[in-house]
Amino acid sequence: MCGIVGYIGKKKACPILLAGLNRLEYRGYDSAGISTVEKNGLSLIKDKGRVNHLASITGIDELEGTIGIAHTRWATHGKPSKENAHPHQNKTKTFSVVHNGIIENYHELRTLLEENGYSFVSQTDTEVIPNLIDYYYHKDPKQDELKFLRAVRNSCLDLKGSFAIEVISSDYPDNMIVVRKDSPLVIGSTEEENYISSDIPAILSYTRNFYLLEDFEFAVLSRTSAKFYTSDLVEINKKTQTIEWNATAAEKDGFEDFMLKEIYEQPNAVRETIGSRISLTGNCELSELHFSKLDLEKIQKIYIVACGTAMHAGIAGKNAIEKLCHITAEVDIASEFRYRDPLLDENTLCVFISQSGETADTIAALKLAKSKGAKTIAISNVIGSSITREADYSIYTHAGPEIAVASTKAYTSQVVLITILAIYFAEILGRCESSLLSELKSDLLALPKKIEETLKQNETIQEFARKIYQEKDVFFLGRGIDESVAKEGSLKLKEISYIHSESYAAGELKHGPIALIENGITVIGIMTDPRLVEKTISNIQEVVTRGAKTFIVTNQKINSNQFDRVIFIPDTNAFISPILSIIPLQLLSYYISKEKGLDVDKPRNLAKSVTVE
Ligand code: G6P
Repeated sequence: MCGIVGYIGKKKACPILLAGLNRLEYRGYDSAGISTVEKNGLSLIKDKGRVNHLASITGIDELEGTIGIAHTRWATHGKPSKENAHPHQNKTKTFSVVHNGIIENYHELRTLLEENGYSFVSQTDTEVIPNLIDYYYHKDPKQDELKFLRAVRNSCLDLKGSFAIEVISSDYPDNMIVVRKDSPLVIGSTEEENYISSDIPAILSYTRNFYLLEDFEFAVLSRTSAKFYTSDLVEINKKTQTIEWNATAAEKDGFEDFMLKEIYEQPNAVRETIGSRISLTGNCELSELHFSKLDLEKIQKIYIVACGTAMHAGIAGKNAIEKLCHITAEVDIASEFRYRDPLLDENTLCVFISQSGETADTIAALKLAKSKGAKTIAISNVIGSSITREADYSIYTHAGPEIAVASTKAYTSQVVLITILAIYFAEILGRCESSLLSELKSDLLALPKKIEETLKQNETIQEFARKIYQEKDVFFLGRGIDESVAKEGSLKLKEISYIHSESYAAGELKHGPIALIENGITVIGIMTDPRLVEKTISNIQEVVTRGAKTFIVTNQKINSNQFDRVIFIPDTNAFISPILSIIPLQLLSYYISKEKGLDVDKPRNLAKSVTVE
């Protein structure tokens, strides 16, 4: 959702910026633009449409500047258009700005600026920023080296909302200023260059050394240096962090799409996430956490809070927490949690799950929990991301960069990590039999091989996809933990195939949805819980009788003749069965989307990282 790229170095900025925008395409956008520092002032080229279109605009090949900023916009204020695309400039075109986030008080600021003689050409909230900078710049009587920074700082102090901003100026051809608040931005650094981006994968091919900005920290970048200032303009020392991901992790690496690559990366993502945290001989190790038995005994309730697929991972993991720790666990959608005034106190533990660590609602929910005294743990895939900086403790999935909008390997890694968290708590609390924990640990360790086995069913799944890709409605049914997989399977299908789908607890079928079942409709059943399999079979029988086509994912010995297609997956511990049972559903959605000729990695209207409400 909106992507920012920047470059300051010795090479021509434009090709680097366009390559960066291409890598950020997955975030979702409707327009793109670029501004560079040229000999005769700031260039500005932008339009609605794809990055390919931007790259074809006359004049873009002639840009020589070695400093530049670029942006992909996901429209919020004002429709997608050339005027509303970023970068935005002040009237005299001395400042160019790109912005990710939302300026909540832009209307008020715009009025104030208009009263001071400024005029606007777009409907965006962002356009107030270059004008405010211009305003403060000219109001400032001092002529020292911090003048540019002061103007940006003073402007940012006026902004309410969230922002990640890059500013260049024709008066400062050797500098760029960047700042963030509640919106992602990283600076990749080499000896001769600085690269700026909304996220790490876009610039991973240039460097693995990154500066991570805190809220309201200002970076003044030159080609060879990066200076950092607090909002009081006190210079601070900052060290780079080395990111372990390698550049090919952010490339397709021979796969047709990122999503397919990421589905096939799951054995390794799970292996890496388990790492040395689990062993058969000792206790589970989560060295990032420091909970004593007494701390955990005080916890009366655990909330798991997240959005989208991460929330589904929470539902899948809740069982392990409740059963192994004997603590009530509840899963909440972050956008609901933040406004529903949940009962929270120091005896509540809140676990926030976010692949990107930048989802606006999840961050807000975390801030709320902290303000009420709850203990907080962040589960994220991105080191240094906002939720990890906000939470009391952070633990990481090691899935590697996930580029496709539809989340796959992040989900399975999240389920693994919540299960590990449950085991870690359970071992400290001592409320559950150790044989149960040992069994679960060995089942976790066996998962990567079993995922590999499950992936081998791809051809049967592709064949079924060919049979149903023109469907209009699909139903997903499951009981217990399988219902959580039904939810995630249904979300995957919607996201990338645009087929309407619903997921239901199988027992609810008779309470309404069965009215929609008619000849030829597709019903997908997940059955991995031996206690419930017969019951789910009965529910599916009811739809078979009414002419439904059925696709079943199971690890139980069932008679496959009663259904159209049965995918048998390896058996595993009930707590972690979603990690295997989701895989056929990920593949099914993928193949359906391909059959329909859709853009699997960049589905319409969706963004990988939802950084605004
Ligand atoms: C968006 C993405 C989903 C993702 C969700 C939560 O909706 O399209 O794939 O599950 O955000 O993202 P997070 O980064 O917080 O896990």
